[in-house]
Amino acid sequence: LNHVLSVDQFDKALIEELFYHANWISKAKGHSISHLRGKLLANLFYEASTRTSSSFFAAMSRLGGRVLPINDVTFSSVSKGEILEDTIRTLACYTDIIVLRHPEKGAAARAAAVSPVPIVNAGDGVGEHPTQALLDLFTILAEQGRIDGLSVTMMGDLKHGRTVHSLSRLLRLYDVTVNYVSPPELRMPPDLVRPADREVVELDEVLAGTDVLYVTRVQKERFESTGDYHYALTEDHMARAKPTMSVMHPLPRVNEIPLSLDADPRAAYFRQMQNGLFVRMALLMYLLG
Ligand code: CP
Repeated sequence: LNHVLSVDQFDKALIEELFYHANWISKAKGHSISHLRGKLLANLFYEASTRTSSSFFAAMSRLGGRVLPINDVTFSSVSKGEILEDTIRTLACYTDIIVLRHPEKGAAARAAAVSPVPIVNAGDGVGEHPTQALLDLFTILAEQGRIDGLSVTMMGDLKHGRTVHSLSRLLRLYDVTVNYVSPPELRMPPDLVRPADREVVELDEVLAGTDVLYVTRVQKERFESTGDYHYALTEDHMARAKPTMSVMHPLPRVNEIPLSLDADPRAAYFRQMQNGLFVRMALLMYLLG
């Protein structure tokens, strides 16, 4: 593995290896280890981010490496019209690895085509967000104790949500039942739906059997929305859900999960967010260590 562009590059053996290290790091609570001392990571973000950019920053720092942050490309030569390829060539001269978020699907592959250093896709438009899917899978395993045999329900804007696109691909490696809940206009892209998957409009149709409920927000920045796609998980839903169900969300949330549910032990989204640090530390060690 050189570049990390898609979850399709991962098989079960590689995932197990990464999770073994992520588990070890999580037991040490992400405390500093110096495996990557002397290495430099470029955090190149053409789109807003809180979790991905800061967890990569923290992961590299806790591994003893350093970070060159470009979190607002309007203050770089991108604002003068520099193309992605030239920006990548430039940063590759100075750094050992580039974490890239970009609004265009396929941008990470474009970057990888010219980069002599590893490119990590931190979200490419409506394409993929592979490191998010890895931390999601790690969280499912940590919360449920297994992956095979689970019923996973993804709810929300499945058309534009790159986190669900990557998670859906990654779950194909496992024996899971997958349900998709969305308004008809925001359904999962057809090529990601397998014949055995269930697509419904109402959560109630699949809630009772769900082990993992993965909620996403409407990606208003990605399309001209004419509808009111408001949907939310409620205390009433939680009362009817399995007592062992895990609620996940890649965050940020925008009214899909009320704050009143945060204290429910089934609310796993903040633990999920923290797992991002451990999984990204393990991935950086794998790529650079
Ligand atoms: N989950 C996620 O990608 O969050 P950010 O957009 O804050 O990085």
